[in-house]
Amino acid sequence: MSLIVILTGAGISAESGVDTFRDSGGIWSRYDFRKVATPEGFAANPTLVHQFYNDRREQLSLVEPNAAHHALARLEREYRGSVVVITQNIDNLHERAGTKNLIHMHGELCKALCVRCKKRFEWEGPLSAFDNCPNCGHSGCLRPDVVWFGEMPYHMDIIEKMLIHADMFVSIGTSGSVYPAAMFVEVASGNGARTVELNLECSEVSELFDERIKGRATEIVPPFVDALLAGELNG
Ligand code: APR
Ligand code: ZN
Repeated sequence: MSLIVILTGAGISAESGVDTFRDSGGIWSRYDFRKVATPEGFAANPTLVHQFYNDRREQLSLVEPNAAHHALARLEREYRGSVVVITQNIDNLHERAGTKNLIHMHGELCKALCVRCKKRFEWEGPLSAFDNCPNCGHSGCLRPDVVWFGEMPYHMDIIEKMLIHADMFVSIGTSGSVYPAAMFVEVASGNGARTVELNLECSEVSELFDERIKGRATEIVPPFVDALLAGELNG
């Protein structure tokens, strides 16, 4: 039974209207990541960090999954083997398109984490330092349940197992500039997987892939999925 492991990045959500990070005009050209996406930044100014994520959570309620998200959900439903999506994205567009076998390695925008009791909560609306933890009742201890720079991504043990057993590793819409996700292609190919990169332009790790397909995710992912389902790529 073959296993296809798919890594996604901000590029798969770009055509839904969700900002990427390193394209021109991307998030990191408008915000200093040290101030809004590090534990030190949160400790120094929790209000600024909550506002940064509140704005992104609000934007998420206005966008929809695109054809690339839907194609991956179709692949999971119809493929004879197994498909798992590992996403660096904190948006909920894969879920809303129907993907079930999904790992959020950088956390989720619509979840809050209590730093005191370590409980997680669905959180669709604005989050602030004045909100009380629904479990332990303390205020000032809820943070966005996202992985910041300098923190360990989530589920790395499961991810490593998936990469070792993958028959095909596919990367979609990521610049390959953030580790450990950027080295997944090496782990997968080192264990015998066929590797394919689908991206708008060359990434920092393009040359590590067996195959590269360039273009917009909504244009290249659906036909790629069709080819996989037709057995043309014997993934
Ligand atoms: N279709 C396909 N690819 C696209 C599209 C599109 N419509 N638009 C942009 N891209 C590509 C860009 O060419 C770029 O290579 O998507 C990639 C987006 O790269 P980044 O903005 O760096 O996003 P990502 O790779 O997901 O960043 C990884 O960095 O800041 C952290 O935690 C954050 O998860 C994020 C991580
Ligand atoms: Zn708590």
